[in-house]
Amino acid sequence: MAEPYRIKMVEPIKMTTREQREEAIKRAGYNTFLLDSEDVYIDLLTDSGTNAMSDNQWSGMMLGDEAYAGSKNFKNLLAAVQDLYGFKYVVPTHQGRGAENILSQIMIEPGDYVPGNMYFTTTRAHQELNGATFVDVIIDEAHDSEAELPFKGNVDIEKFKKLINDVGAERIPYISLAVTVNMAGGQPVSMANIREVAEVAHSHGIKVFMDATRCAENACFIKQREPGYQHKSIPDILREMFSYADGCTMSGKKDGIVNIGGFLALNDPDLYQKAASLVVVYEGMPSYGGMAGRDMEALARGLYEAADYDFLTHRLSQVQYLWDMLDEAGIPIVRPAGGHAVFIDARKFYPHIPQDHFPAQTLAAELYVRSGVRSMERGIVSAGRDKEGRHHYPKLELVRLTIPRRVYTYAHLDVVADAVIDLYQERDKVKGLRMVYEPPVLRFFTARFEPL
Ligand code: F0G
Repeated sequence: MAEPYRIKMVEPIKMTTREQREEAIKRAGYNTFLLDSEDVYIDLLTDSGTNAMSDNQWSGMMLGDEAYAGSKNFKNLLAAVQDLYGFKYVVPTHQGRGAENILSQIMIEPGDYVPGNMYFTTTRAHQELNGATFVDVIIDEAHDSEAELPFKGNVDIEKFKKLINDVGAERIPYISLAVTVNMAGGQPVSMANIREVAEVAHSHGIKVFMDATRCAENACFIKQREPGYQHKSIPDILREMFSYADGCTMSGKKDGIVNIGGFLALNDPDLYQKAASLVVVYEGMPSYGGMAGRDMEALARGLYEAADYDFLTHRLSQVQYLWDMLDEAGIPIVRPAGGHAVFIDARKFYPHIPQDHFPAQTLAAELYVRSGVRSMERGIVSAGRDKEGRHHYPKLELVRLTIPRRVYTYAHLDVVADAVIDLYQERDKVKGLRMVYEPPVLRFFTARFEPL
């Protein structure tokens, strides 16, 4: 599908030489997070906060009500969340992890267990900081890059029930249900699975909190793939998805199509009171949290734009386009195409590099040097260490080519595919990396490496 928009403002990007990029990656400690953005040609590091806002959103920015309390933009954001997601209360935060911090603090007691459909870095970090143990209850196939399922983000209901049996429902405050599942490759969860998760959880007094970060993409997959939903609108699908949940955390930087912002949404008035008393400590007044009035306005408008079927169809077809080119060239990638990114299976790309030598980190650095394309490691470095200080060894050792919303064209994606295919032809020559600096938490952001 061609772009369902016209371009009325452009931002030039810099082309660099191979020598400049070799210098830049060395300075960055072979970590693409540490590259200067001006040294990047096509930036597929993340779809987070990197989106292009619409003229409608930018005009909303001029209507910012920057009063300290009772901003009208907060009312618009609240109304948008109530209308599209169906939750009663909204606590604005500076971004998704601000909401995760508050949710984890109000829900978790030390010694609790929080099941989820695969971990996400910041989500698990907040759960663990509050004394919980994260338990992965996603279906086994989600850890297999080759398994081709329409809803590869689904929860394995038996794993969830087994956890309830093993530790007792009273030790499980909530299940954390991500729609879609970032670390599994942007894979969606079906409505049938959401419904079943909620039935099991609620029958045991366990709450359901969704990570709504990419919920519009999930809704679009439901419309395209799940029987009975073809004729439903995206807003209707969203409202049904959230009707099974007690609340959600949201990073507006993805399916809110903004550059900053997020929120925690809730139905329970007591939980809202607890969240509202914490947000003033960590973020700001309950009527602005971590956001300026103008940012809340842009987010309120972005939530509606992200629920537009043409927007979503184009977004998913960009991802599919890049996926198809890599698949035709025989590149090992996570199947099927997900919602926000194409994930390269670095274990299969570099089978001669052991996981301790960071194959995905290596591939991300190589891709940058070859082409100026910036991608992100989502493997052993992202997975971090367990409580005993040992590496988590995730089955999926991936490089994510993440597509920002409304930013790049299909021609940019051709450049990306060519670069990956060239690298694949020379894969035997490449050696791994060793880590020379490691921070204690969320190490992938700032760790540094050297070539072996
Ligand atoms: N949940 C999911 C599924 C995410 O992908 C992210 C962020 C967050 C929560 C946290 O939100 O960044 O606004 O604080 N993901 C980004 C990424 C960083 O690149 O995937 P945040």
